[in-house]
Amino acid sequence: MTHDSENHRPIRVPDHPEDCDGNGWVHPESGGGAYRCPACDSQRVLQALGGFIPPRFHKPIAMPPEIYDWTQKGREAEGLYICGNVGTGKTHTAYTALAAWCLATGTAPTHGGISNNYGETTRYRPTVVFIRATTLFDELRPGNQPNRQLLVDCQRAALLVIDDIGVEKPSEFTAEKLYEIVDERYAQARPLIVTSNLPPRSLADQVGERVASRFAESCLIVPMTGADRRKSA
Ligand SMILES: Nc1ncnc2c1ncn2[C@@H]1O[C@H](COP(=O)(O)OP(=O)(O)OP(=O)(O)O)[C@@H](O)[C@H]1O
Ligand SMILES: [Mg+2]
Ligand SMILES: [Zn+2]
Repeated sequence: MTHDSENHRPIRVPDHPEDCDGNGWVHPESGGGAYRCPACDSQRVLQALGGFIPPRFHKPIAMPPEIYDWTQKGREAEGLYICGNVGTGKTHTAYTALAAWCLATGTAPTHGGISNNYGETTRYRPTVVFIRATTLFDELRPGNQPNRQLLVDCQRAALLVIDDIGVEKPSEFTAEKLYEIVDERYAQARPLIVTSNLPPRSLADQVGERVASRFAESCLIVPMTGADRRKSA
């Protein structure tokens, strides 16, 4: 997951300082307080990324420079909207941006879950959510109790990625839930990555004017061009 060829914006991992204890802390020989080792922190993030990102998208790919720059804004980054035709690399680029953002912010991505400590169970939220729009719409549909946990996870995750929006039109109810997610992140200025086959303005018919308008205003829009990479492979 590290990039080094000259076309690739690097995802660089720093070296361990000499006085790193190998356990996340640097204890300077010269005195002064201990501080976190940036290399140990990056390793922890990389390890978590390896489990979080599906195998197909582990291969390092070139990231458009403007996307790399967006990832380096860390928690100041707002929206990133990657659009293009089938097979142009939107999903792979979104995962690569996720990885660079996690390294930039020191966020180890987790899916969330239940932890059991000495008989005490607690639910912990995911730090990062990557979800297909179709799955999200399915989970939020009215019939069987919309998945409230997921809705809140999507609102609060440090980073949310919604992949492939615009393929399926949500019901009015589901579109309202999507709006609740997008508007909360918009209000809190939390980073969001969206991929779509459509430019944001053309989404209005599909996901509603309010969601489309927030994407158009708050997102850096990066079109992906070229042929279907699956055909050329
Ligand atoms: N920059 C790249 N360099 C090399 N291979 C790439 C690059 N980007 C994507 N690929 C590969 O091309 C294929 C298609 O990529 P991806 O699934 O990201 O496309 P997509 O735009 O999301 O397609 P779809 O619209 O069907 O969801 C994958 O096998 C992916 O690993
Ligand atoms: Mg895709
Ligand atoms: Zn270290």
